[in-house]
Parts: sequence; C-alpha cells; structure tokens
Amino acid sequence: METIKVNVKDVLQTVTGEQIQALNPEAASALEKLHKGTGLGNDFLGWVNLPSETPDSLLADIEAVAKDLRASCEYVVAIGIGGSYLGAKAVIEALSDSFAPLRAQGDARRTNVLFAGQNIGEDYLNELQDFLKDKNFGIIVISKSGTTTEPAIAFRLLKEQLEKQAGKAEASKRIVAITDAKKGALRQLATEEGYKTFVIADNVGGRFSVLTPVGLLPIAVAGFDIRKLIEGARRMEAATNAADDTNPCVVYATTRNALYRAGRKIEILVNYNPKLHFFGEWWKQLYGESEGKDGKGIFPAAVDFSTDLHSMGQWIQDGERTIFETVISVEKTDKETIIPSDEANLDGLNYLAGKHVDEVNKMAELGTRLAHVDGSVPNMQVTVPALKEEYLGELIYFFEKSCGISGYLLDVNPFNQPGVEAYKRNMFALLAKPGYEAETEAIRKRL
Ligand code: PA5
Repeated sequence: METIKVNVKDVLQTVTGEQIQALNPEAASALEKLHKGTGLGNDFLGWVNLPSETPDSLLADIEAVAKDLRASCEYVVAIGIGGSYLGAKAVIEALSDSFAPLRAQGDARRTNVLFAGQNIGEDYLNELQDFLKDKNFGIIVISKSGTTTEPAIAFRLLKEQLEKQAGKAEASKRIVAITDAKKGALRQLATEEGYKTFVIADNVGGRFSVLTPVGLLPIAVAGFDIRKLIEGARRMEAATNAADDTNPCVVYATTRNALYRAGRKIEILVNYNPKLHFFGEWWKQLYGESEGKDGKGIFPAAVDFSTDLHSMGQWIQDGERTIFETVISVEKTDKETIIPSDEANLDGLNYLAGKHVDEVNKMAELGTRLAHVDGSVPNMQVTVPALKEEYLGELIYFFEKSCGISGYLLDVNPFNQPGVEAYKRNMFALLAKPGYEAETEAIRKRL
C-alpha cells in the first residue's frame, strides 16, 4: 500500500546510525508516556487516539453543516489564529487549485473559504469587508479559549456586517462557532445567539486540533473529503505504536534530536510544491510552540523550493553549519504539463522538450539534496505519494506524534505554551484593558 515514508540516510555524514539508535530507549519511554498519559502535559493527549476515536456521527454532522453553508454561501470566512487557523489553511491550500479564488468569481457551484482573525491588519480587514459587501457569506468562528483578541475583533466586525446584509435571523443560521464546551466569551455568545456549535475537547491543544471540527469543518466547506483525511490519520495512528525503528515517528524524532545534540539547532522544512507553503506554516507552529521553551528547542524554519533557492539557497549551502533539512517530497503530481519543443530554440530549452515539468522539479530536488549533503547540510526526506486527503491525514498525524516524542526527548512539556502569554499581557496593559490597571501603570512608566 502507498504511504508516506521517512529516509534518514543523508544525515549520516553528521551523526552516525549508532548515535541515532542510542536515543531509541528514550524514544520508547517518550512513546509510553504518550500512550499511557504519564508524561508532562498529560491532560492534553486527546489527539493521540483522536483519529480512531472520531465517531462517524461527528463526521456526518460536520458534513451536513458544511453542505448547508455551501448551499447558502458563496464565501465562508474561517475566523481563528494559531492552531485555530493553520491546519485548515494548510490542508485547503494543499488540495486546492492554485487559482481557485479567481476561478470561483461568479461560479455559483463553488464555495471559497477565506480567512480572518489570523492578524490584526486594519487594511486586511477593511479590504475583506469591502470584498464581502455584495456577497452571500457565512462565518465559522473558531477559538478554543473563546477569548483570543485577534479573532474576537474580526468576528465582531464580520458578524455586524453579516447581520446588516442578511438580517439577524439568516445571519445566525450562517454562523457556526467552534469553541470550548462551557468556558469563554464565544461559548456564551454562541448560546445567546443560538448558533450551531462544535466543541473542541479540553484535552486537545490548539496546534493538535486540525483533525477535530476546528480543521475538519473549514476543510469540508472547501469541498474536500474529511473521511479520507481521517482514514489516513487512522492508518498512521495504527502504524506508529511500536517503540522501535519500524515506527517512522521514532525514526524522525530520534534523528532530529541526535542532530540537535550534535549542534544542529535549526531545522528547515523544505517543500518542492508551492501548495505546501502553509503546511510549512502549520508545522512551524506545531514544533515551535511545542519545543521552544526552558531555553531549549530546535528552531523550526520553512522554505519553498525551488523559489527560495534563489533567496535562501546561498545561506543554506554555505552559511553557518547549524542547520539540517527535512524535505517533503511529493511523488506524483495531480496534473500533467509537458514542455513543448520549439523550432527556433532561442531559449536553448529544447533539451527539456517532451519532459514533464515535474521531471525538472525532481532533478532540482535531487541536485539540491546532493549539493546540500556536500555542503554538510544533513537531509531527511519524508516522501508523500500525492497531495490527496488520505496522505495529508497520514502526514499530519505523523508530525503530531513525532512532535510529542521529540518534545519528551528534549525534556520539555510539549503541550503548553506559557511564552505566548507575554505579548498578550503587554498588549492588554498598553490598551488599558479592564482588569490590567496595575500592568497599565507599570508599562506606561517604561515608555
Ligand atoms: O496551539 C495553541 O494552543 C495556540 O496557538 C492557539 O491555537 C492560538 O493561540 C489560538 O487560541 P484560541 O483557539 O484559544 O483562540
């Protein structure tokens, strides 16, 4: 059966197989902590068995709500930030036609998912509101805490706009809230306004929530098959129980930690398919928030090749040797484009005539790998058969479980994010939020 595969042979000039395997006992203990719930942050392990425990009734409910939104809306705005945004954005981008938003204009059969609440850009919000002013739109508002400022501002603006454009009764049918079962301002608001809601379980943290309604509803609204996504994740869940090298998560987690301990402090996630740009963003949040704490952690970076070979390529080839790469390599393209022959051959490209564009891309990938290995950049490959729902489901679960193992190898709590609060406290103090009077006074003295 086709499945994602991990290959670490091109790291062996920097760390030996023995150095990697020496971490296997620690990885086995990390895996046991995940499976038995005996490690740090064990109240946030709901994602470990989530794929196999997702009931059919929940998928059916999500599909039904998505169908209603698709029937009544040309555009659905998914409002959320961090874990309440990146997973859905990553999957939708990976599966969508690159020009879907342009094609969709005036095409009543399509529903486009737009995003808001992932920034506090006044121009962004103004332009979004302007774009939506003559459109039938709906809203999926997502916040686990129900109190995050960025999505709350976007929701206040778009809710008011939708109520004006469609009327309050119709607006409340086109708004779906995804939040905590009981806590938070969003839960209270949703109850009072009578919105359809989905619950984010207490034991699933934001960055591990893409396979809950947080990711599944926007993905279903965009027209993709959430059952196949979950099916892929279930396959990976079943394939990642063993505490040895047959478990790809053990291989990836031990290899990246062996590299870290050998002084490779930065991991660059590389793709050769522009549709994976946001998958890199999702991965950066997953690993950055999970591992970067207590003065430790591999710094997660991401690049899109070959685009960024023309910007970051020089640094990667020749800069400080503190990096390693993990390349997501997609085996098959979805569509075919052949480079044509040209009689005049003024551009000298006839040597490529008759080849698929992807053959050139694959040679760029192979050539880069060989050059980077020569330049002492250890290189791991994660091979994905194709950009399809089931393989993305596998990939998501693979990176989540590897992240849990890796965080425990690093001896941090991979499931909290205390550092995220620091900017919020300062922002609230600067904005004189009620309840922050002392902080406001203190921070103003610093200015
Ligand atoms: O991983 C996390 O927990 C965070 O990145 C959150 O997803 C992010 O801060 C958004 O939080 P919330 O969903 O509570 O609005």
